[in-house]
Amino acid sequence: MSTTFRAPGRVNLMGEHTDYSGGLVLPIAIQLGISLTAEPRERILLVSRGRRVDLAADGTGKAHGWGRYVAAVAQELADAGREPVGIEGRVEADLPQGAGLGSSGALEVLVALALCAVARFELEPLELALACQRAERRAVGVPSGILDQAASLLGRAGSALLLDCGSLEHRWVPLPADVAILVLDSGQRHAHEGSGYADRRRELEAGDPGRVRHVETENERVRETVAAFERGDVAALGSIFAASHASLRDDYEVSTPTLDALVAAALEAGAFAARMTGGGFGGSIVALAQPAGAADVFARTGAKGWIVRAADGAIPRRTDSTRDRA
Ligand code: GLA
Repeated sequence: MSTTFRAPGRVNLMGEHTDYSGGLVLPIAIQLGISLTAEPRERILLVSRGRRVDLAADGTGKAHGWGRYVAAVAQELADAGREPVGIEGRVEADLPQGAGLGSSGALEVLVALALCAVARFELEPLELALACQRAERRAVGVPSGILDQAASLLGRAGSALLLDCGSLEHRWVPLPADVAILVLDSGQRHAHEGSGYADRRRELEAGDPGRVRHVETENERVRETVAAFERGDVAALGSIFAASHASLRDDYEVSTPTLDALVAAALEAGAFAARMTGGGFGGSIVALAQPAGAADVFARTGAKGWIVRAADGAIPRRTDSTRDRA
């Protein structure tokens, strides 16, 4: 019996660089994700686009590239008490890497769910998200927050997840059906490993006034965004998104000229709200448009990207492998 797991990527609608100081975030899980069809084995044997990972069931062994995330997740789960049962399977993704859509968080969630299932080990979703967050740091040394992993696990179709990253209290905010959510890829690849991400966190913790101002105003913008959705006033989102982008550019200094230009181009092409999304230093912007105008935003900016939907978070689906092969 093999089982298929799928973990989605995420787009954060508001609340950037607020998670690791216990602030508010408002992500959606999206229809793009990573999947893994796996069976229990003695070791962890995974393959993705010809690249193999071969580790002991507790995650020990030599790991390179994406295997570092797999190893770190298995090690975190071993620390949490998971029995060392391995898996063999194939990882497939329609979620791009380095586009700022939470691909490493999705990979961690995916592997964690598969490893928990084969060992019949259960953690509450947010406990699992925290283990994956620790795995990110263990794997590549990036001191990221819980945003990506929580969104990938707890996302809900048609809604955004409002999460207080300090208390972990959360609720879902229904999104209007008549707004298209666009992700425009700047083409500037990013990896938080080696970017200014860790510097920004250190500067914030040292009390840098610009960084602190960004976090305080950004938390307020999450509240304003939720209020605008709840009173059906999407027109109010244009200025909130603009203020968020300016704050990320000027106070937090994580935008790039390429991202700034793409935000301006999207607004000129008919989007009514746009800002960079994710960690910055490249990656994507998120824009809101009338559904009828969405194709135009891509055509007129010439940017590649996706119209994304708020999708459900990671859900295991059982498949019968014999029937699969027939
Ligand atoms: C990356 C990190 C998240 C979060 C965002 C910025 O995506 O993985 O934890 O800090 O950047 O909001």
